Amino acid sequence: QADVFTFDPGFTSTGSCESAITFIDGDKGELLYRGYPIDQLAEKSHYLEVCYLLLYGELPTVAQMEDFEGRVTKHTMLHEQMKNFYSGFRRDAHPMAVVCGVVGAMSAFYHDSTDINDPWQREVATIRLIAKLPTIVAWAFKYANGQPMVYPRNDLSYAENFLHMCFAVPAETYEVSPILSKAMDRIFTLHADHEQNASTSTVRLAGSSGANPFACIAAGVACLWGPAHGGANQACLEMLREIGSVDKVGEAVARAKDKNDPFRLMGFGHRVYKNFDPRAKVMKESCDEVLGLLGIEDNETLKVAKELERIALEDEYFIEKKLYPNVDFYSGIILEAMGFPTSMFTPIFALSRTVGWISQWKEMVEESSRIGRPRQLYTGPTARDYTDVAAR
Ligand code: SDX
Repeated sequence: QADVFTFDPGFTSTGSCESAITFIDGDKGELLYRGYPIDQLAEKSHYLEVCYLLLYGELPTVAQMEDFEGRVTKHTMLHEQMKNFYSGFRRDAHPMAVVCGVVGAMSAFYHDSTDINDPWQREVATIRLIAKLPTIVAWAFKYANGQPMVYPRNDLSYAENFLHMCFAVPAETYEVSPILSKAMDRIFTLHADHEQNASTSTVRLAGSSGANPFACIAAGVACLWGPAHGGANQACLEMLREIGSVDKVGEAVARAKDKNDPFRLMGFGHRVYKNFDPRAKVMKESCDEVLGLLGIEDNETLKVAKELERIALEDEYFIEKKLYPNVDFYSGIILEAMGFPTSMFTPIFALSRTVGWISQWKEMVEESSRIGRPRQLYTGPTARDYTDVAAR
């Protein structure tokens, strides 16, 4: 059957490709962004510097970072008319539906950066997406809450700006907590890119047709939403809440192993990692740090998560299937402690991943002009003649 799959330089039929951006060793549990280990970047770098690294391949000098940060800061506002899109949604719409719609609508407002053949327009679109996603996501949160949208501020860092737009209200001053902005920035970094996952492959395939970058990123947002992918962070926290207490964890693990039960441990397992997801390790350490600093060590959800991890990692089913916590297992606990509802977890994942999507899109557009065209293994009926309804 090997001859059924034809190799396509842009895309093989399995949807794989060549890339120099992110490396994963699933057996070792290793993740490198342009060669730098994720745990070092999470500890020593910050999200906008990681954006620069993913986009341009090297860590920036001071001057390069100042220029990049200045360009992003200058593009954080949205066209005022884009506010109208929010009022077209029901207040109880899932924020991912809103973000997907508004990102797609960027094609209609920033058409001066949609020509993918013009390097300058590609660069402007890239900066606009990285700069505006926090505003789009924060405004989706405000819209769901019935609160007025808060404009971005140029005197705040990327993470501080996002938190300020989410939690400030015009009636009073909101001071962004350094603890929360450091935790937020680290969550952005841990989710920035992850090789050819489903949503990144979606962005690449959409981009290979020549579609504009905003439409391609909207396609990535749509794919990420699924509970098997980025939607798992919301599903995981809801699962931990449903388990409710440490004494109920054993029952949940038994259900997860029961083939007749559709219940799965959300935040567990991964197509590539057959060892601990290195992002989950950093996230778990951040949980202890952030909850401790916020004075909520006695967090039942965190206790349930740790007990679930302990039991699962000792269980032969999980050991045999090499199932470990993934990036979504602990992230929701931190986000909830920061004040976000579960519905905001995946939009925050989408915001963080935008730089990975657009970096991969840019790499593909600059290297290949062929449309991706995955093939199939046909299992349907062989050719046959039409029969009139009377003869059926
Ligand atoms: C992300 O690709 C990426 O890089 C994605 C991501 C990124 O950064 O972009 O890392 C982000 O999407 C992380 C994954 C988030 N999803 C979840 O946490 C949902 C729960 N996990 C599972 O649905 C599953 O593990 C997947 C979807 C993550 C992986 O699916 P696979 O590789 O197709 O694994 P599988 O479904 O074939 O499972 C292999 C076996 C199966 O048993 P058998 O059919 O061999 O008997 O392991 C079992 C599964 O039943 N299994 C689980 C399980 N995950 C897999 N059993 C119980 N609980 C689980 N969570």
